[in-house]
Parts: sequence; structure tokens; C-alpha cells
Amino acid sequence: MVDFNSMFSANALNMKGSVIRELLKLTARPEIISFAGGLPAPETFPVADLKAAADMVFDKHAAKALQYGTTEGDADLKAEIIAFEGRQGVDLNKENLLIVSASQQALDIVCKVFLDPGNYVIAGRPTYVGALQSIQSYRGKVLGIPFTPEQDGFDMDALELGYAKTIHAGDKVKYIYVIPDFQNPAGFCWSLAKRKALLEFSYRHDLVIIEDSPYREIRFIGEPIPSIFQLDQKGEHRGTVVNLKTFSKILIPGARIGWVMGPEALISKFVIAKQAMDLCTNVFTQKWLAEYMKTGKLYAQIKSTCDNYREKRNHMVNMLEKYMPKRWEIKWTKPEGGLFLWLTLPKFMDTDKLVLKAIEQEKVAFVVGSAFYFDNPEHNAMRINFSYSDKPTIEEGVKRLARVITAELEAYEAGNRAKTTPEGL
Ligand SMILES: Cc1ncc(COP(=O)(O)O)c(C=O)c1O
Repeated sequence: MVDFNSMFSANALNMKGSVIRELLKLTARPEIISFAGGLPAPETFPVADLKAAADMVFDKHAAKALQYGTTEGDADLKAEIIAFEGRQGVDLNKENLLIVSASQQALDIVCKVFLDPGNYVIAGRPTYVGALQSIQSYRGKVLGIPFTPEQDGFDMDALELGYAKTIHAGDKVKYIYVIPDFQNPAGFCWSLAKRKALLEFSYRHDLVIIEDSPYREIRFIGEPIPSIFQLDQKGEHRGTVVNLKTFSKILIPGARIGWVMGPEALISKFVIAKQAMDLCTNVFTQKWLAEYMKTGKLYAQIKSTCDNYREKRNHMVNMLEKYMPKRWEIKWTKPEGGLFLWLTLPKFMDTDKLVLKAIEQEKVAFVVGSAFYFDNPEHNAMRINFSYSDKPTIEEGVKRLARVITAELEAYEAGNRAKTTPEGL
């Protein structure tokens, strides 16, 4: 019997499975209400329009669509993306643009290009678990920065201090990873001042910023704030910000198509890294999305998805207000976009334990907050998704969640009372 473990690379041995993927397997049972996944609402998928676009590809572009393509990406799709970004005030050339097999591939490419084992990435506490997984698989480390109590971006003092300590210890920091628009997991949105402050910090220390923006267009309340990529472009234009975008949340995740915007020198390095991964992104799918974009329907599509999510987000917030116990301090974010709320319980609660009871006893699931920390996780929070379920399911799920939380808090109180009761009484 071959001992495969003894043959795995150090990188492979350091890889960790995603807690979320494991949890999603558990929650696939039909009786379970799952707030765990990050799934867009299937009713938002424009099936008829996408079918017409696919037919168009077969009718008009079959020879190209069924062939190998360039690593950089399909020229038609790139032209559509340049126009799409242009409408948002982003100035883009095709040399600054790389089409990828969605943002997750971009996150892997970034690690592949920048990280040697032991190198640090600056990232939020909490942050997107898929980014942590990529960093882990290249044996990188994370300098985790907490957010301000106002949830408007990093605690900049903690950033300065953490950075100084890391450098002083002789370690290398390679880049900053942030999700300024409706972050996964917590839904935090960075203020303009914090975006500018981070850009200034990156200039001062010659650091690249990887700005991950899958939810940027999914703003259902308020006005857009310029991305850090835009702030650099409109300001000093040092070209040190890389912006990751994807069709996953604005259209469909199943297409697995995203794009990377950045300075030409980095894009061309990313192209080489990508070549060894997949030669090129799925050509048919790129042509398909290009045909869909040519109809101009993506803008109305995004608007209607935002309308759908605003309603569901408001409903979930109302249901939390209605059903969550008031006796203890339970808080949740009220994001102006994205797909998630972040619910925080009293410090003594452990959602790693609670999730099993929630699934087994109440048939409701969430993602444990601890999954979103590289190290020293906080255990008293959870991520709950509001985009996937319909409104009655949201109400029922929140009711169940409130029941399991109440039971756990009451059990904790009863345990504490028993401990303080003198023995023998
Ligand atoms: C912050 C963040 N980055 C990247 C991704 C990966 O998205 P994609 O489907 O484009 O690979 C996700 C998916 O949920 C995400 O939340």
C-alpha cells in the first residue's frame, strides 16, 4: 500500500478543506433550512436571455467558441467588460485586463505569483475563507487586522502596529487583501476615508493591494463609494492596486467567469501563472457571456437582483428583530449590499458547538464565524445568508435559529446558577 501522505508536497500537506464546503454537504438534506451557503437567488437567473445568447454562439461563433482561446481572454468579452467598467468610471485597456475562471482562480494566481512559504498577507479579521484557503495552500501567513467598531474599515492603528512588528521580526509582507464592498462574511463596507487611508498606507510601504469586489454592484441601499482601484486611477495612479471582479454574484456563478484589472506588468505575470493551470478560460462560456452582454440587459438584470436582495435583507433584519431574544446582547450587521449578515452572540457562546445543535435539533444551518479567521478565531459569531431563501423560509429559519440560541443561553445561565449555588443545598 503506497503511503500517499509521505509523497505529498509541503504545500499540499498545508492545504485545509473549507469548513463551508463540509457544512454545505450536511445541509443538503431537504428538511434543513440553510443560511450557510453564499448562493445567489436562482429566481434572478435570466434563463431565457442566457439561452438566446447560447443559441447565438452556436449559430454565429461555433468555430471560435469550440476552439482553444488565448490565456488573456476572449476579445469580445474583454470589449464588453471594458464598456461595463467604463460606465462606472473605470478607465481600462485590454492589456490591463485578464479573464479568469472566476475570482477564486484569481485568488490562487495572486498567491502563486506573490507568496513564498512564510510570507505574510495583510487581511481582515474576519475575511473570506476562500482567500485564506489559497494563502494556506502556498504556505503563506496572514497578518490579521481587526475592523473598527464602526465597521467602516481596518483599525488603522492596529494595521500600523501589526505591520511594524511583522517587519521588525524580519518577516516579509507581500500584499494587502481587502473586500471593501459588502465584505464576505460580515457585510462591512469601507468608508471613503478608510479606502484612502489604506491606499496611502500601501504607497508608504510599497505594497500591492488586492481589492476583491464580487459584491460591488450588489448595492441595494445608498450610493457607490469609489473603489480603491478607482482612487488610485483618479489620484496618483501608481498602478499598485489589482481589482478582482466576477459574474458570480451579478449574473450567475455557474459560468465560473471573472476578471482581473491591474497594471500590465502584473497582468502579464498572472497570464503566465494561469497558463500552467488551465491554458485558457472556458471559451464557449466567455463567448456566451459576451453575447449576453451585447444585449445590454446586464444593467437591468443587476438592478432587479438588487431589488430582490433589498427585500430579503429587510425581511431578514425584521425577522431577527422580531424573534431574537432581547435579554442578551445579540447584534447583527445591516449591510447596504451583498449577500450576508454577521450575527454576534455574547462572548461566552461558541457557534462551533451551536451549529451542530442547530442542524440536528432545529434543522437550520449557518456558517460558524471561526471559519473566517486565519488564526486565533473568534467563536461567538455566525454568517447568515439572506439571498438564497424565499421570505417564508427566512422567517421560519430565523425562528428556528432564535429557538436554538435561546435554549443555549438559558442552559448557560442555568449552569452558572448551579455553579454559584452552595454545595448541599
Ligand atoms: C469575497 C469573495 N471573493 C471571491 C469569491 C469567489 O467567487 P467566484 O465565484 O468568482 O470564484 C467569493 C465567493 O463567494 C467571495 O465571497
